[in-house]
Amino acid sequence: MRKIITYGTFDMLHYGHINLLRRAKSLGDYLIVALSTDEFNRTKGKECYFSYEQRRLLLEAIRYVDLVIPETSWDQKISDVQEFRVDTFCMGDDWKGKFDFLEPYCEVVYFGRTPEISTTRIKDELGQTLAK
Ligand code: CTP
Repeated sequence: MRKIITYGTFDMLHYGHINLLRRAKSLGDYLIVALSTDEFNRTKGKECYFSYEQRRLLLEAIRYVDLVIPETSWDQKISDVQEFRVDTFCMGDDWKGKFDFLEPYCEVVYFGRTPEISTTRIKDELGQTLAK
């Protein structure tokens, strides 16, 4: 069984996220999503609209996702790959090159991002609409 892992915040889930998850799952049989906790996001200066538990509920309802684990720090990736016997790590190419240090441990794949959609964009555009 090939295991895949990806990391992210996945706030206000959108079709760019679904594309990423579908492509990630297509690389193997079992997809693990390491989901940034609210505390970890705060250290990155990111405040989510949905809480960790709400974001986890949404991800667990997606057919491509087999397991959601918490992402609590930048430093957990090597130990996650080892603990869960991960074959492939993948991310969108906004992170291209950033995780190549995992190559001794697993395959590393970057996918092209889906154009013209992001959580930030949804928040900005909805905010502007409501402000009118
Ligand atoms: N992603 C993607 N295409 C998009 C948006 C996100 O492939 N249009 C991917 C990212 O590259 C990452 C994963 O989805 O691998 C989770 O990204 P996340 O940062 O949670 O989503 P964004 O919509 O980019 O959120 P934000 O605007 O807050 O950065």
